[in-house]
This record gives sequence, C-alpha cells and structure tokens, in this order.
Amino acid sequence: MKILVLKQEEMEQIITMKEAIEADKEALRVYSEGGADIPLRANLNVPEYEGQSLYMPGYAASSKALGVKIVSVYPNNIEKGITSVPASMVLLDAETGMVNCIMDGTHLTKLRTGAVSGAATDLLAKKDSSVFLLIGTGGQAESQLEAVLCVRPIKKVYVSDISLDRATEFAKNMSGKFGEKYGVEILAIDSPNTVVPEADVITTVTTASSAVFDGNLVKEGGHINAVGSYTPQMQELPETALLKADLVYVDTRDGVLNESGDFLNPIKAGKFDSEKDLTGELGELVAGKVPGRDNDSQISVFETTGSAVLDIVVAQKIYENAVGKVGVEIDI
Ligand SMILES: NC(=O)c1ccc[n+]([C@@H]2O[C@H](COP(=O)([O-])OP(=O)(O)OC[C@H]3O[C@@H](n4cnc5c(N)ncnc54)[C@H](O)[C@@H]3O)[C@@H](O)[C@H]2O)c1
Repeated sequence: MKILVLKQEEMEQIITMKEAIEADKEALRVYSEGGADIPLRANLNVPEYEGQSLYMPGYAASSKALGVKIVSVYPNNIEKGITSVPASMVLLDAETGMVNCIMDGTHLTKLRTGAVSGAATDLLAKKDSSVFLLIGTGGQAESQLEAVLCVRPIKKVYVSDISLDRATEFAKNMSGKFGEKYGVEILAIDSPNTVVPEADVITTVTTASSAVFDGNLVKEGGHINAVGSYTPQMQELPETALLKADLVYVDTRDGVLNESGDFLNPIKAGKFDSEKDLTGELGELVAGKVPGRDNDSQISVFETTGSAVLDIVVAQKIYENAVGKVGVEIDI
C-alpha cells in the first residue's frame, strides 16, 4: 500500500485559495443535496493523559472523497513543547478502501474554514465590496483574510482583536504577505465599532462569549461571516445583526442549529425562527434551491460551525493535485 504524506508547505504549493473555495462550494452543494455520508463525530477520552481524541469521518461519492480527520486535544502537550491540538487527515481510495494519503490536518482546517467564508463572500457580498473588517486575529485569521481578498476587490482591511498587540502584529505580518499581492492596506484598530459602518464585509473568528461588534451599525448591503461560535455558550455575532439581516445562511443546519450560540440564543429568546427566518444552507444556494442577494441594500449573514464534508472534499482535491508532484510516498 502506497501512502502519500503531505506537509503544510507542500499543501500550500499545490492548492490555491480559489481552488479550495470552489471545492468547499461543491462540498456544501453535495451535502445539502443529501449526497454525502457524514456520521456524528466519535470522541474518545484518554483520562490517563488528560487527553481527548476526536474522529470526524465522511464520504462524498461525487468527489470520490473518503476519509477521517483526527483531531486531539492534549492540554499538557504545551509543557512538552508540542502542539496541544494535533490534527491529521487520513484519506482513503474510495474504490479500494486503502489509505492513500496522510496530510497536515491543522493546515487543512485553516484552509477549508477560510475557504468556506470565501465561498459565502463570493456568493453573497456586493460585487464592489472594498472595505473588509476582520475581528479575531488568532490561528484561523490568515486564511479568513486571504479568502475574502481572493473573491472581492478589497482595498482596505481593518483588523481587530481584544488584544490590540496581537492585531497590530497580525496587520504587520499580513501587510508583508498580502499588501502588494492584493493591492490592499491592512490596518489594526482598537475598536471595531468605529469602522463597522463602512465595512462591506465583516468576518468574526474569535473565541468570544458575547457579541464582538454593534450590529446596529452594519451598513446597508453588508455581508457578515461568523466563524467562531461552535458551542451554545459561545457567541460573537450580535443578535441585532442577525435580526436585521435580509438573508441568513448556514453551512449545515445540523451543526449551526445544534451548536452555535450565535443562533441558539436568539432562537431561545423567541426572536429568531429557524424555519421562517433562515434562508437556507449555503449548499442550497449553490444548487439554486434558495434565493440569493438580488439588490445592493440587503444585509446577508453566513454562519459556519464546520463539517467533515469540507475536510474530505478539500483534502481529496489536495491529494489529486499533489500526486506525482509533491510529498513523500511511503510503502507499507
Ligand atoms: N467554523 C469552523 O469550521 C471553525 C474551524 C476552526 C476553528 N473555528 C473556531 O474559530 C474560533 C477562532 O479559532 P482560532 O484558531 O483563530 O482561535 P485562537 O484562539 O487562535 O484566536 C482567537 C482570537 O480571538 C480573539 N478574541 C477572543 N474574544 C474576543 C473578543 N471578544 N473580541 C475580539 N477578539 C476576541 C482572541 O484574542 C484571539 O486572538 C474558535 O472558536 C474555533 O473553534 C471554527
């Protein structure tokens, strides 16, 4: 059995953000049309080492994508000088069931998560969007930034975080990496609310437990991607923004309506009706089954909690691009 092993640098060489965005659109379309088998995540506790190991399997026939992402949470690893959240993606050949590739799962998560916001922005933001506000400058922020820069003619990016130092450092690094490439100015700011009224696109990617900006200030025609809230206790999207949105989409109903405080809190308070007020899944929009933006004054919101379907379809694309070009092949 031959297994291709791919490191982050090799993955970066052989897939562009644009390709990842298109792969995510396809993954969500297939998911929404019932063409993907995505079982519940299996969680194993390893109390002896205070660890937890999570297994996220999936199969999408149309992409021949079959695999499992393994993510572990081992807080004590930090004392050993290694990551506390190691992650790997294991891909199988759908025709034979043989493992054919192992790749860096942390990089895959960043890529497919940035790309899903890129997909939503591509499908929903006004075509002439030029000002982008990114709130949260942690591990996921870089791919969130690049994805939006890829799909809209952004000229100015404001970045904000509860740690101004982190936002400032991020703005400096990203100016070096993307400033010239995308012809964009990237500035750290102290308070997001000063620029919310001018932002065409807003992405929140934080670990916050309450709204990270004032939703009343969102401009007509604005588009919001909310990425960080994956438990009922976490919330970053202001309720006011959700309630004033004309168009509301999720990556998966199952994930968002069971896990995200951004939706569960307004639903619990009787202010948001998941039947009536939710426009649909993004995959339904890709498939043309629900309406999209039809004028430049509508406000749109996209919420993602992530899904294994994004992992397997993007990973399969990376594998197909990589074969014979990059990586190390091992024979077992
Ligand atoms: N939707 C998905 O598929 C998906 C995938 C991966 C990660 N995530 C989630 O996205 C979130 C961010 O991930 P990360 O790896 O970048 O985390 P991280 O811990 O590296 O960074 C989070 C950043 O948010 C900032 N922050 C926290 N509260 C804030 C607030 N109130 N206002 C402004 N900034 C605030 C922190 O200072 C930090 O810089 C996490 O909740 C993570 O679980 C979602």
